[in-house]
Amino acid sequence: MDIHKVAVIGAGVMGAGIAAHIANAGIPVLLLDITTPTLDKLLKADPAPLMHPKNARLITPGNIDDHLAALRDCDWIIEAIVENLAIKQELYRKLATVRRADAVVSSNTSSIPLHELIAGLPDDFAAHCMITHFFNPPRYMRLLEIVSRAQTDQDALAKISYFCDHKLGKGVVTANDTPGFIANRIGIFWIQTAIHEAIALGLTVEEADAVIGKPMGIPKTGVFGLSDLVGIDLMPHLMHSMKHSLPAGDALLEKANIPPVIQTMIDTGYTGRKGKGGFYRLNRDGGEKVKESINLQTGEYSVSQAAKLDSVKASRDGGLQALVSHPDKGGQYAWRVLSQTLRYAAALVPDIADDICAVDTAMKLGYNWRLGPFELIDQLGVAAFAQRLAAEGMEIPPLLEKAREQGFYRHEAGETFYLQPDGTYTPLQRPAGVLLLADLKRHTTPLLENDAASLWDIGDGVACLEFHSKMNSLDPQILELIEESIAFIPNNHQALVIYNEGSNFSAGANLGLLVFAAQLGGWDEVDNIVRAGQRIYQTLKYAPFPVVGAPSGMALGGGCEILLHCDAVQAHAETYIGLIETGVGLIPSWGGCKEMLHRWSSFRKRPGGFLPPVLKCFEIISVATVAKSAQEAKDYLFLRPTDGITMNRDRLLADAKAHALTMVANYQPPEPPVFHLPGATARVAMEMAVNDFVAQGKATPYDAVIANTLAAVLSGGDTDITDTLSETDLLALEHQHFMQIVRNPATLARVSHMLETGKPLRN
Ligand code: NAI
Repeated sequence: MDIHKVAVIGAGVMGAGIAAHIANAGIPVLLLDITTPTLDKLLKADPAPLMHPKNARLITPGNIDDHLAALRDCDWIIEAIVENLAIKQELYRKLATVRRADAVVSSNTSSIPLHELIAGLPDDFAAHCMITHFFNPPRYMRLLEIVSRAQTDQDALAKISYFCDHKLGKGVVTANDTPGFIANRIGIFWIQTAIHEAIALGLTVEEADAVIGKPMGIPKTGVFGLSDLVGIDLMPHLMHSMKHSLPAGDALLEKANIPPVIQTMIDTGYTGRKGKGGFYRLNRDGGEKVKESINLQTGEYSVSQAAKLDSVKASRDGGLQALVSHPDKGGQYAWRVLSQTLRYAAALVPDIADDICAVDTAMKLGYNWRLGPFELIDQLGVAAFAQRLAAEGMEIPPLLEKAREQGFYRHEAGETFYLQPDGTYTPLQRPAGVLLLADLKRHTTPLLENDAASLWDIGDGVACLEFHSKMNSLDPQILELIEESIAFIPNNHQALVIYNEGSNFSAGANLGLLVFAAQLGGWDEVDNIVRAGQRIYQTLKYAPFPVVGAPSGMALGGGCEILLHCDAVQAHAETYIGLIETGVGLIPSWGGCKEMLHRWSSFRKRPGGFLPPVLKCFEIISVATVAKSAQEAKDYLFLRPTDGITMNRDRLLADAKAHALTMVANYQPPEPPVFHLPGATARVAMEMAVNDFVAQGKATPYDAVIANTLAAVLSGGDTDITDTLSETDLLALEHQHFMQIVRNPATLARVSHMLETGKPLRN
């Protein structure tokens, strides 16, 4: 049975975020609290919990006194109230009286075991009760831990797992009913160890974060930056509530005490970004913003100093091994934190999870580690790791002992095997509908490749074009491989998917090359790239086979334009598409203006003739609009109404492939559009609007130059309504105006500034 309606009880940080995300999935949701909550906070929160403001319409707020009966219609009731067993149980007793017999009740508790939550409740209620542990913020954190018992109704469990995976896009991990489940059990241990050891070894917070961050494949917030982000009071709070249920002798209990310096911070309101500041703070006293950090020994703040550690430098070439074997304090620190944390994780399987994959996935999706604990041990070398533990007098957990010979993961004949607690190896199997290029790449070679892109065979006659340049920026090599792929595919394949597993689909055209060419006066080179991009994107559009773009993360500038030329797009829900060229003093010139004009005149027919689509494109492109989700991208027509959206990142490639296969039979390339554009009258109207913005101080004079250049293209140049323009005409206009503006020193200043700082220059 499907899930058609959900209720969330408790409209705090988590409950509101979970309700928003259920609305993101298109499912109506009741959001109840003690008193009826308002949705204002949800609409204003940053990062946005809603993928589209209109999703708020699916959320019905209410209160548990007046609206309890409405729960009768709900297939799933999620409890996200205060972390207090007695209060939660009191609520469950009420829910037991109103819940439909097959409705599932789940708790978002972060620390209370399921057997305690359901103690004393009727059997049929208990059989439909489980823990679904979301991470904060629920829209963005991919982990969902699910905890059930042998007595749990298996259909109910399957139904919730399926919904969370497919509809909410979560990486569902089955955890055992133990304190803190998987990610927080190890995560709290890791954070507490990292804090205690930094104090013991006399590291600064910058030094500790520099060691923990990039070298260990952990976000650069490290451990102190992370604590500031989530709230310094959260860990002690979680620790406190877990303490009574941890088994005696558990190593986490030894880490439970809060160092005095941190207790003082919490007591005085220095709880991180939500409080007066944290381990880091921005001091605005002198009128300027100065980044400061706390001295872990004295509790005093001073100006933040970047870390300079030889061990961190050594890790750039020598990896994790070089880091932990370096004699400086960074190396010692890395070893102390990793050795204890990884050993702790190894000692917890099969207690907290049935297998090591669940633990690795939980840490990757819940704490954003690039590698999970067992993958990290493999990287260090299991034998070397165990040997050093033994040499330092630490006990070796049985699972680690079993991995000594062949590691936790083994790759053999294209298959990956993982170590089971009994010492045998099991092939790693992805769920149906999950297809990962990373898996495929382990055992196949590309059909075509160069330094920036590769073409892979993903089965069933579908090829996959992958970018792998820096930030997946588009350069002549990628263009070359696209062209080769278009020639290659019809021989053995029937469709193409454009997809990669980088954090971003593409950051756009390679601006470094542009600056390089400009500085040498190589305008012919720039001209060639513009023409090549236009020609190759056109060839892609009219290729004799279907092409499906499958982006995730940012798809900007040229990365957006390639999607605009695909027959269809299957986008990950977290895709941020935009034409941002004006931000760097340019205009879209790989067919972006042309395709947007076509979309706005064919998908959104409005009264007013040819002018409204032109104005709409101008409005979108002139301010470098980037859609904040795939859902929002449809508002701007960066995506067509018919394009698909996949909630689960791991399902994107398989969905895109399936989408492409539906288009194969009787495929016909699109009909070339004919444009009717208003010409000078529209251009003048847009110029006047821009001049108003400049007069009001909302745009700089150079913004106006760029906007006017864009207006010249979008209005169709020197045409009038009785003329028609072809795609070739529009591409010629894009090219002509791009080549003019790119020579302007103010444009080059914008491009250089973006390359140096990552931020736009408003000159
Ligand atoms: P919160 O304090 O922000 O919100 C709790 C909400 O529950 C409040 O709006 C309160 O009015 C409401 N409430 C309390 N008793 C109620 C009752 N009897 N009936 C209806 N509403 C009631 O708490 P938060 O952080 O959202 O946590 C909720 C649950 O999620 C807790 O179990 C917590 O352990 C868990 N959790 C929290 C995470 C976090 O990062 N904050 C992460 C994962 C889980």
